[in-house]
Amino acid sequence: MTARIIDGKTIAVELRGRIAAEVARVLSTHKLVPGIAVVQVGDNPASSVYVRSKSKAVAEAGMRAFDHKLPDDVSEAELLTLIGTLNADPKVNGILVQLPLPPHIDAQRIIASIEADKDVDGFHPLNAGRHATGLPGLVPCTPLGCVLLAKSVLPSLAGLEAVVIGRSNIVGKPLLQLLLAENATVTVAHSKTRDLPGVCRRADLLIAAIGRPEMVRGDWIKPGATVIDVGINRVPGEGGKSRIVGDVAFAEAETVAGAITPVPGGVGPMTIACLLLNTLRAACAQNGLPVPLL
Ligand code: GUN
Repeated sequence: MTARIIDGKTIAVELRGRIAAEVARVLSTHKLVPGIAVVQVGDNPASSVYVRSKSKAVAEAGMRAFDHKLPDDVSEAELLTLIGTLNADPKVNGILVQLPLPPHIDAQRIIASIEADKDVDGFHPLNAGRHATGLPGLVPCTPLGCVLLAKSVLPSLAGLEAVVIGRSNIVGKPLLQLLLAENATVTVAHSKTRDLPGVCRRADLLIAAIGRPEMVRGDWIKPGATVIDVGINRVPGEGGKSRIVGDVAFAEAETVAGAITPVPGGVGPMTIACLLLNTLRAACAQNGLPVPLL
């Protein structure tokens, strides 16, 4: 069997088109331009790439991006002051502080200082709690993208065995909530899980968010399963160059799986599209407008 490739790039382009149309509609009917502040501390090259592509996508959707680049040695107090200003600014509907932050800054304290209704990353404890209890709130972008990709090839997730590898606050835990809300039977596996390959082989839907290059092998996958690969790992390639691989050994997996996301071009583009969606939703909610589902 050769798996169907889940083309995240194309699905993200379609979603971004629907978002841009809705942004144009709220502009013409309500004179509202959704705005997001993107805060970067220091010069981490990977963060700079993400921040640039986020700001570009925001502009392409017809929204406003307010970029704040702060030096590596900025104090926690200065960063908290900036977030206070952004919290109070009605033009700023969403606030994203790019992670990781330097070690002298307490990331949890920074996340908690963001107004929960502007927390377009969905990382604030209030949004995590709302999500866990089924209340409306902002949901982290990468997990949301994973579920949209899974639903692009599966008519329903209800009753499926879903296995998530990884238990981070950013991906694994919110995925548990999202998949439960879709009525899947969910297992969250992690580094201490016994017989990880055996657990994975039970999965109709396998989502890998471990951060280890090509750890999930072909024989960990149930024939016909849907595989979503969240990993973005840089490894040495040919001729001294590096290349990007996922957490799944793609060449092996595509001979077993029913459908699989590539890396790059799978989950990554969906994360940005979902950030735009969260920003639009936050702007509508803050202005008393119906929140678009899209
Ligand atoms: N760093 C890596 N991924 C993310 C993300 O989704 N949001 C933020 N704020 N930082 C990140």
